[in-house]
Amino acid sequence: MTAPRSVLITGGAGNIATRFAERVSGVYDLTLLDLPGRFTEAHAAWGRLVEADLTDLEAVGEAMRGIDTVIHLGGERRPASLWSTLLPVNIVGTYNVVAAAVAAGCRHVIYGSSVHVVTGYEPQLQVRETDPVRPGDLYGVTKCFGEALGAYVAATEGVSFTALRIGAFQDPERLADDRAGWMLRDYCAPEDLFQLLAAVIDADRSGFQIYNAVSGNRFSRLPIDKARAKLDYAPAYDAFEVAAPFRNAIEAVGGVDDGPVASGMREDVERIMSSTGK
Ligand SMILES: NC(=O)c1ccc[n+]([C@@H]2O[C@H](COP(=O)([O-])OP(=O)(O)OC[C@H]3O[C@@H](n4cnc5c(N)ncnc54)[C@H](O)[C@@H]3O)[C@@H](O)[C@H]2O)c1
Repeated sequence: MTAPRSVLITGGAGNIATRFAERVSGVYDLTLLDLPGRFTEAHAAWGRLVEADLTDLEAVGEAMRGIDTVIHLGGERRPASLWSTLLPVNIVGTYNVVAAAVAAGCRHVIYGSSVHVVTGYEPQLQVRETDPVRPGDLYGVTKCFGEALGAYVAATEGVSFTALRIGAFQDPERLADDRAGWMLRDYCAPEDLFQLLAAVIDADRSGFQIYNAVSGNRFSRLPIDKARAKLDYAPAYDAFEVAAPFRNAIEAVGGVDDGPVASGMREDVERIMSSTGK
């Protein structure tokens, strides 16, 4: 019998990682990494715990020893975040994770990218993995950085790198909510994301890949043909089937409620304007 793959998950105490770890703790040999004070007793039952800040290159490098696959989910996920919040964790932290994975000889880095790398397109358009990125906010810009870094190291360092452009990760029950319209076209059920994550972990060396990671929504900004073809992805959910109020679907297609309008540059723009008296 072969030993289970050693998988390190950054952001290990976060929403997606916690639920995935609970699901696969018997399948993979898990290590969870997050900031000090974030883990619960439950996490300890699922794997080894590492308390470290992603901005600490040495600590991240230490955690990476003996790891086969890294799932990088740690970081700032609020789309309206300011640059001062995003820079240390989504840029420097992501760089540290990738550099440490290369140093440790990890086989594969799987990156929690986001639909926000393409939310700058008209909302009714479909955007394939091969279309140019067009982020709708600075958070999306940081996710573009992660993808670009992945393309670079896959080409130069021989590590496989897979970016999953995750949509709106929510329990199906949330779709019954009258205010759920904004998420229908990007909806990603936990069960569907976990299926994709497992397929990517179990895949052979893949070089650099990007996959749209949403459920089988009948209207979707992110088409999933590539995941269906290459990973045998067979999502269980279609948000438009699960969601009761159809008028929310109409709103979603019209792009009425797309969450907060993000401007991560606001802080610096205002500082420059006040110092120049404009
Ligand atoms: N939830 C979604 O709908 C969604 C959609 C698209 C992409 N994503 C991406 O997936 C990833 C996980 O999302 P989530 O919803 O689980 O987020 P989350 O906020 O629940 O988890 C992120 C974790 O990262 C940890 N973290 C933050 N800064 C850190 C640092 N400096 N050092 C170590 N750990 C740090 C936090 O403590 C937290 O536990 C994120 O990168 C997010 O951008 C999420």
